[in-house]
Amino acid sequence: MVDINRIRIEPSIINTSCAWASELAQLEDLYKSPYTGAVTTRTATLGGFAEDSSHAVVFGSTSASTLNSYGYSPHPLSSYIKWTHAILSRDTQSKPLIISITSNSASELVQMVEDVQKLRQRLGDSVKDIPSRVAIELNTSCPNIRGKPPPAYSFTTLLPILGVLTRAYRTDRTLTIGLKLAPYVASFQFEEVVKSIATSSYDLEDGNRANPFAFLTCTNTVGNSLLFVHQTTSSLAIGNGADMYALGPVLGGLAGEPIHALSLGNVFSFARLLENHEDKAVRMIKLIGVGGVVDKQGVERMRKVGAAVVGCATLLGREGVKGFEKLA
Ligand SMILES: Cc1cc2nc3c(=O)[nH]c(=O)nc-3n(C[C@H](O)[C@H](O)[C@H](O)COP(=O)(O)O)c2cc1C
Repeated sequence: MVDINRIRIEPSIINTSCAWASELAQLEDLYKSPYTGAVTTRTATLGGFAEDSSHAVVFGSTSASTLNSYGYSPHPLSSYIKWTHAILSRDTQSKPLIISITSNSASELVQMVEDVQKLRQRLGDSVKDIPSRVAIELNTSCPNIRGKPPPAYSFTTLLPILGVLTRAYRTDRTLTIGLKLAPYVASFQFEEVVKSIATSSYDLEDGNRANPFAFLTCTNTVGNSLLFVHQTTSSLAIGNGADMYALGPVLGGLAGEPIHALSLGNVFSFARLLENHEDKAVRMIKLIGVGGVVDKQGVERMRKVGAAVVGCATLLGREGVKGFEKLA
């Protein structure tokens, strides 16, 4: 069991945001499974993302891997709010839903956070001393949005957006907030992220310190990756394949076994920086480790390098919700 700010995750294995956590029925199946300790929704925007046939996923044929060109969910945040309410109001277990959201606009994000907070009020979720069942994850790292590189790669540009979340937390500290990060490849990148996040810490009246960000989810897919059609299994492929390249737009986000080593390295690097940080509030930030976890050994490796919670997406896409049983 892992407590992250006000949410409780038991078992400490979850699905991460993905195309297989997009519809109400998919979220209900994930929620019902005793092998998931929380359910993360696909990333929602305020108005819904214009999805077309260029947005697709293919499965690798020689490893448990995926390449996808999806943007965000076609369903707007209001759908996920309605569905989260439907799931949680008929269930009394403490299992949380993590609502993944994104926006480049501070004013739009204010609206989105307010909408989530209204949902939490309707669910009686802001009561101190009982676990919360709704958290927010800000996706900063989708590699597939044309003309908009993931802000996670120039983290300081995110500061106005992070300011919105900081203000929301300072108003209501029962709100659990996390950041979905990109895979990084150089040590200065990890340092820049932690330095930026640390600027949001503040002193509490009782002398303690608080930081609005309760968790970091590492990592998203590796962008600008390419697979040829013959490297994929067409029987599992969804959407629009081109003649030669597996995805219509050619490039996409790689996930699954080929990124496992990089994701482990990211979790390891963040764990070291967080646990040695001079600010106690930064030391409290937990890591959700994701990337290429497809079996128990992968879960163990993620835990060893510092993940409090372990997540997966490609396994869910390949095997459905029953895939989680083998991680238990
Ligand atoms: C088809 C697909 C769609 C995804 N969509 C999202 C998304 O909407 N938001 C997000 O934060 N991550 C998204 N991801 C990234 C996953 O949450 C995860 O970070 C990544 O796939 C690495 O984990 P894995 O190796 O277990 O797949 C998606 C991944 C896949 C494969």
